Amino acid sequence: MSCRIVLLGPPGSGKGTQAPRLAKELGVPQIATGDLLRQAVKNGTELGKQAKGFLDRGELVPDELVVGLIDEQLKALNGKKGFVLDGFPRNPSQAKALEGITGIDLAVLVDVPRDEVVRRLSARRVCPNCGQIYHLEFRPPKRSGICDVCQGNLVQRSDDKPDVVAKRYDVQYNEQAAPLIESYRKASVLVEVDGRGSIESVFERILSEIQARKSAKKR
Ligand code: AP5
Ligand code: MG
Repeated sequence: MSCRIVLLGPPGSGKGTQAPRLAKELGVPQIATGDLLRQAVKNGTELGKQAKGFLDRGELVPDELVVGLIDEQLKALNGKKGFVLDGFPRNPSQAKALEGITGIDLAVLVDVPRDEVVRRLSARRVCPNCGQIYHLEFRPPKRSGICDVCQGNLVQRSDDKPDVVAKRYDVQYNEQAAPLIESYRKASVLVEVDGRGSIESVFERILSEIQARKSAKKR
């Protein structure tokens, strides 16, 4: 089985924490639409200017902008053997657009209940330079407020305010992603992983689902 993997899950489920580990383990690149959009906002590009309001309000950026971005990223892989997508697709129309670019082997849904999401996001800190993700309690930096990797000053994401988190969970995830998850389930490409517990144990669960799929395909 090639490793074309899509990570799904509510905000705060740990997609951004798990995606780089998974990509490293599988030897494939990771592409995160949220990171790319935040970078575009930071750099003041045309895409960033168009996306900023949507990000701040916790709404999906219009499909045509995100599909264009992902198309560019996937074409730049030049036929490499796989990828881990974090944050794309987010609705059925994005999934259809992805199908037009490439197939996928597996969609991994990392499931975390709403109260745990709120707990995680209220104490998340990120490095605006290198993107490393921290949690004040569960994954604290060695020095308070300073990134372990690049020594940047850690910040809170602007969309981690409680009202924006609620909108991201209730509208983006519960309403807009639900039919997408259902269609992946029907197509038998979906696996669901319990996203609770330690970062390490969630990683092991995701990996074992991928390995199980690979072995089943070989049989
Ligand atoms: P995006 O950046 O993708 O945000 P999201 O999906 O809301 O998810 P998050 O990044 O908030 O959470 P995560 O699952 O990555 O969790 P993390 O690993 O950080 O998108 C942001 C915005 O961009 C969207 O609102 C939209 O506007 C736009 N956008 C992006 N893609 C789009 C698309 N395709 N179409 C349209 N618009 C798009 O973990 C969270 C916290 O929990 C961290 O502090 C972490 O340290 C901690 N943690 C992680 N795992 C554990 C664990 N097992 N135990 C304890 N703590 C943990
Ligand atoms: Mg993320």
